[in-house]
Amino acid sequence: MAAGFLTFVALNFACLCVSGNLASGKRSFSIDYKNNCFLKDDQPFQYISGSIHYSRIPQYYWKDRLLKMYMTGLNAVQVYVPWNFHEGAQGVYNFTGDRDLEHFLNLANQTGLLVILRPGPYICAEWEMGGLPAWLLQKPNIILRSADTDYLQAVSNWFAVLLPKIKPWLYINGGNIISVQVENEYGSYYACDYNYMRHLQTLFRFFLGEDTVLFTTDGNTDKEMTCGTLEGLYATVDFGTDTNISEAFKRQRRFEPRGPLVNSEFYTGWLDHWGDQHARVTTEKVSKVLGEMLTMGANVNMYMFEGGTNFGYWNGADHDRRFRSVVTSYDYDAPLSEAGDPTEKLLAIRDVIKQFRDIPAGPMPPATPKFAYGFVTLKKVGSVSALLSTLSPMGPVQSHYPLTFEEMKQYYGYMLYRTTLPRDLSEPTPLISPLNGVHDRAYVSVNGVYQGLLQRDTALVMNVTGHQGDTVDILVENMGRVNFGSKINDYKGLLSNLILGKDVLTDWKIYSLDIDGAITGGWPHSARKQSNPPMKKELSFGPNLYMGTFPPNGLSWDTFLKLNEWTKGQVWINGMNLGRYWPARGPQQTLYVPGPLLSSNQPNNITVLELEGAPAHLRVLFMDRPQLNATTDKS
Ligand SMILES: *[C@@H]1O[C@H](CO)[C@@H](O)[C@H](O)[C@H]1NC(C)=O
Ligand SMILES: *[C@@H]1O[C@H](CO)[C@@H](O)[C@H](O)[C@H]1NC(C)=O
Ligand SMILES: *[C@@H]1O[C@H](CO)[C@@H](O)[C@H](O)[C@H]1NC(C)=O
Ligand SMILES: *[C@@H]1O[C@H](CO)[C@@H](O)[C@H](O)[C@H]1NC(C)=O
Ligand SMILES: *[C@@H]1O[C@H](CO)[C@@H](O)[C@H](O)[C@H]1NC(C)=O
Ligand SMILES: *[C@@H]1O[C@H](CO)[C@@H](O)[C@H](O)[C@H]1NC(C)=O
Repeated sequence: MAAGFLTFVALNFACLCVSGNLASGKRSFSIDYKNNCFLKDDQPFQYISGSIHYSRIPQYYWKDRLLKMYMTGLNAVQVYVPWNFHEGAQGVYNFTGDRDLEHFLNLANQTGLLVILRPGPYICAEWEMGGLPAWLLQKPNIILRSADTDYLQAVSNWFAVLLPKIKPWLYINGGNIISVQVENEYGSYYACDYNYMRHLQTLFRFFLGEDTVLFTTDGNTDKEMTCGTLEGLYATVDFGTDTNISEAFKRQRRFEPRGPLVNSEFYTGWLDHWGDQHARVTTEKVSKVLGEMLTMGANVNMYMFEGGTNFGYWNGADHDRRFRSVVTSYDYDAPLSEAGDPTEKLLAIRDVIKQFRDIPAGPMPPATPKFAYGFVTLKKVGSVSALLSTLSPMGPVQSHYPLTFEEMKQYYGYMLYRTTLPRDLSEPTPLISPLNGVHDRAYVSVNGVYQGLLQRDTALVMNVTGHQGDTVDILVENMGRVNFGSKINDYKGLLSNLILGKDVLTDWKIYSLDIDGAITGGWPHSARKQSNPPMKKELSFGPNLYMGTFPPNGLSWDTFLKLNEWTKGQVWINGMNLGRYWPARGPQQTLYVPGPLLSSNQPNNITVLELEGAPAHLRVLFMDRPQLNATTDKS
């Protein structure tokens, strides 16, 4: 392997870092354009970094993951700040608990890791709407990621809150943040608006000062580099194992003739959408290309080093030919698994790094213990339609035509649209979304009987039968907003009218559903009245809620929840929204359950929202290993 590395040393654009001036005693971090490297405290500096997203890992595991990264030989971590994770409603900010960014920075600092911060405002990251808050969509024609006045005003307000928190954490101010990325792969966005990038640059300079290293990251094409870079922001590239390294760094050189070589996202793995084959990037390729880049003296950030989990509703989606949402696991085939365990890829990366620098002495912290708690049998709580007084305490909004999630100011999860059949339908009659306005899936029942579903881009017609005046309930699922490309203005709900036979459906009652609020409040387990004694094992279809309990066994260990033969839905344990499951499509078959979520001395509470159909056995299984690679349906 070492011989392969050497061939790259001769390239004329290799880093020529030499020992710098004597340290002046003042903390500094800058770019040395003469010697093509970074300078930290006036000494040449090369980073070997890994990406980790605090928003995808429960706070109690942050320290463990950071320590494992440090023990691999990394000297920095790269971190996104998802705007929508912190400003859930306009002007309402949350920086506590799992959102405590400063605590994360502090833990990284204590661990001996520098930080490359990527505060967006847009981050992509396969995260809901690329990190932008969905409330921005209240302005119907807002041009996101541009100099649109309303967008810029919202960004300025956010940065006026975020960046002053960041400033004391800059390396030059005694913290650990060495550099800050402006926007994210802006060159791959259609708008190519330099006024926007200049405005961001001004904001960053205003709040963080003139001495902070600001940089951009772009895909490795001339078009992307042209639209994504700006004078005054250091231009870096990103690429994976299948790219020709010298070609890629040559392209960086065209935009930055001098300065350090930087691959800001070296892909150790890749993401999965529902219906994909599980992505894998081999350890051999990752090790080989990492070694080659380090031999050139390049600075490398591995994306991801630990991927973590899209808990709750935080997964993003892509829209190329059709809408495809990202699975709950963000394991990413990364060196640390979704559950934070060292993999053989991590050990191989450590072996590569060892050839270039001393790595910390001592053992790699072990995998956290896992436990197979076994089967738990659930029981039905009721259908969503029958539970509206609990799930929608505010009651419905009446509207002639359907309203979107954004108009209802409910940004995530599920909403119920109710109307009545305008006439008798004794023959199967087509229910159509002529403008492809179902975002993203609609589960249709008539008088409580499930009739089927409509799905964005792929299923725009289904049949309905019933009698005039029957109640039509349409539960609409928001499957995560598009996080990449030109379609990020991704409104949810029923965006246009539905047509049934020859009638336009009108006169809706629209129920915002706060399922999470009910569950966080203890429901359904705390409900006094136990539901009717069950019940012969009958199959039930359509959106229903189920509950179950498993006794404490003294352990709060990580586990993986498998919903074998269930179809599609959402799961909560002890009030925490674990995310979506969809084993009927795959490839993900198990959900990661962080151990500290489980009680060692109280009954543990499971709640399941199954959207299509639960199996007769009503069992779920807690296993001691994940299964992320079984694709069952590619549609
Ligand atoms: C802020 O976020 C934390 C961590 O997710 C959560 O526990 C807390 O309830 C949130 N605070 C508010 C006021 O929503
Ligand atoms: C970061 O860690 C260093 C070394 O432990 C310490 O001296 C410094 O005060 C820390 N910085 C902050 C901002 O906590
Ligand atoms: C990368 O591209 C260069 C031309 O720029 C070529 O000489 C070299 O063989 C390529 N390397 C690989 C591994 O394909
Ligand atoms: C609807 O019903 C008609 C008549 O039974 C049938 O021909 C058609 O295939 C059905 N369409 C769908 C989408 O199920
Ligand atoms: C489960 O729900 C019951 C009933 O509300 C409650 O007493 C118990 O504390 C809950 N368990 C946990 C671990 O939160
Ligand atoms: C999934 O991964 C496991 C563990 O690596 C492996 O044993 C199994 O064969 C894989 N299954 C499929 C369907 O690829």
